[in-house]
Amino acid sequence: KDQFPPALLDWLRTSKHLAILTGAGVSQESGIPTFRDALSGFWSRFDPMQLATPEAFDADPSLVWGWYEWRRSQVLECQPNAAHRAIAELAVQVQRLTLITQNVDGLHERAGSPDVLCLHGSLHRPYCRACGEPHRLPQRDASRPPKGQPMPPPACASCGDHIRPGVVWFGEVLPADIWTASEKAAGSCDLLMSVGTSSLVYPAAALPRIAHRKGAKLVQINPEPTSLDPLADVNLRGTAAQLLPHLLRAAWPG
Ligand code: NAD
Ligand code: APR
Repeated sequence: KDQFPPALLDWLRTSKHLAILTGAGVSQESGIPTFRDALSGFWSRFDPMQLATPEAFDADPSLVWGWYEWRRSQVLECQPNAAHRAIAELAVQVQRLTLITQNVDGLHERAGSPDVLCLHGSLHRPYCRACGEPHRLPQRDASRPPKGQPMPPPACASCGDHIRPGVVWFGEVLPADIWTASEKAAGSCDLLMSVGTSSLVYPAAALPRIAHRKGAKLVQINPEPTSLDPLADVNLRGTAAQLLPHLLRAAWPG
């Protein structure tokens, strides 16, 4: 309790609309391989920037589909951590919570958070490259161990074109409806918590700045300093899985 400024506990308890922005750091304690760590074995000969682009997929659909299936199989081996669970619990305690994530691992949803705004899409929601038809992935096919090799993408049931990973790639725009909802929440919340993001990649990194400009209180959770430090009202130096459960208990004891 004493590790948090009393004002922060007050802001949480009296907030009319809390916005939370998360990045890869919130999944770090679940052991999710970072974008670059996912290049092991067969994939180590590739540069991730080469694989995460529409051009790469058009040039070699099996190579890119295989890599994302490899990453999805890794993510399915991981579990949501105490940070994901604390954020899901926060939705119950505060009057209104908007959760915005840059992650594609689906761990917030698996921890029980409703209505997650996924700025960069999701590994679990592939769709057709041509007609956009969503594609249902087979439930974890335990009999089929993750191959970790190139795999031909499924064909769209509607038009037969390639199914592609549901992730926003370099050079692609963010889903407009998700971005608009995120920007609106950042502009109308009274408290924004930025958790586990280096705040380097735009447009996601603009959200805490929009909130700050509109007079919201800004709280950051990150073991390292980021470019957001000078703007934040409170910088909690530590990991999400350690700090968030304690912050919740301190604000709502018992
Ligand atoms: P990615 O890392 O290529 O991310 C694409 C998105 O990031 C696009 O919005 C793009 O505009 C932006 N972006 C990132 N770096 C950029 C750069 N240097 N220049 C321009 N735009 C850049 O895609 P990915 O690896 O397929 O993963 C999708 C997202 O998942 C990424 O944002 C990735 O960092 C993030 N990620 C999530 C987890 C997780 O789910 N826990 C872990 C690691 C990375
Ligand atoms: N708890 C909280 N924060 C953590 C933890 C942790 N356990 N571990 C690491 N961090 C912090 C790191 O200090 C870093 O600031 O999380 C941040 C992770 O930053 P990035 O790896 O850059 O991930 P992210 O901010 O999500 O990247 C933004 O860039 O790669 C692109 O589009 C991609 O979504 C991604 C975007």
